[in-house]
Amino acid sequence: QVALGTKEKKVVDVHTHMYPPEYVRILESRTTIPLVRSFPGAPDPRLILLQAEVPLLDSAAAAAESAQDSAAAPAIPGRPLTRHYASLEQKLHFMDTHGIDISVLSLANPWLDFVDAASAGDVAQSINAEFAHMCSQHPGRLYFFAALPLTAPLATVLASIKHVQALPRCRGVILGTSGLGQGLDNPALLPVFAAVAAARLPVFLHPHYGLPNDVWGPRAAEYGHVLPLALGFPMETTIAVTRMFLAGVFDAVPALRMLLAHSGGTLPFLAGRIESCVLHDGHLLREGRLGPTRRTLWDVLSTQIYLDAVVYSPVGLRAAVDATGADRLMFGTDHPFFPPLTSDEQGPWESVSLNAAAVSAALADAADADAVMGANAVRVLRLYEGDEVDEVAA
Ligand code: URA
Ligand code: ZN
Repeated sequence: QVALGTKEKKVVDVHTHMYPPEYVRILESRTTIPLVRSFPGAPDPRLILLQAEVPLLDSAAAAAESAQDSAAAPAIPGRPLTRHYASLEQKLHFMDTHGIDISVLSLANPWLDFVDAASAGDVAQSINAEFAHMCSQHPGRLYFFAALPLTAPLATVLASIKHVQALPRCRGVILGTSGLGQGLDNPALLPVFAAVAAARLPVFLHPHYGLPNDVWGPRAAEYGHVLPLALGFPMETTIAVTRMFLAGVFDAVPALRMLLAHSGGTLPFLAGRIESCVLHDGHLLREGRLGPTRRTLWDVLSTQIYLDAVVYSPVGLRAAVDATGADRLMFGTDHPFFPPLTSDEQGPWESVSLNAAAVSAALADAADADAVMGANAVRVLRLYEGDEVDEVAA
């Protein structure tokens, strides 16, 4: 057995979340989503995050009110908030179980999107400091993507970027698709993109809002979380990045680097169609936006975009590799989401082995597979770089 720290080939998990205890306390104090609530008969408190979970939350509340017997009680909403969400010890155990040398932690959705403008700056500062502190406890094994107080005034957001840039082991920022409330193609967000780019902080773009509930139809409750998670999340990412592309954000901030969750949603698969729709759009032609200097989506994908390898199948992963190149893909797990349902949570997780197997199957060249499993993240996120400085600062 090779000691983790000296192993030649590092395995790096770039998509791995935590809710620090302070964040869980905020969720516990809330009455609208996102929230944490306990239900009779459920061993763990329940984490209720998504709009698609609200109908079940409402029916559970109604059932509790009318004191129905448990046989008639509706299913419990949300997912169990196990120790895996807040415990650093569990994160390390999970990493060791799966041979993961380094994790780049991020706050899970919906980050600070719901925090009021007046307190968002302070909450961000405290949560990001907590991430830096967690990373300092396991030097060389943990880095993090910081969360930004996007509901606060622009000056506060920009101050937060300065703050996290100086935090030891911060290697980027995690962002949802709402931006300042109107999506990522909002020109008001350009100073934020410019500031993170200037700070050499890549943006880890992650979905949360999905698609409107009525898309899932009247039988949605019968299908658990499958439709919003499998389809809503990836479409949300696809739409957000396509809007940024159409708005020219990547041209306006050429130093912007984005790591897209879930292998870019469906972007690798749909990029050709998006390009064709652009080329055949009379409105864009009349606006003079189809000239010879126009950058294609393919060009953006292979210069400003990185993709995680959280797509669970070599079919999707091959499209991702084709779209961006094997040097722009990075392994991830999405821990603590998708735990095994019928085996011990302290053992191996199938959600991890599916992604690792997809990397081996999709990348015939062993050097490419190793790059996706870790070397790309080490290079792109500058892992180890400045650790000596970080040591002092922590
Ligand atoms: N569900 C979520 O809400 N977030 C994730 O990151 C994965 C699943
Ligand atoms: Zn995730």
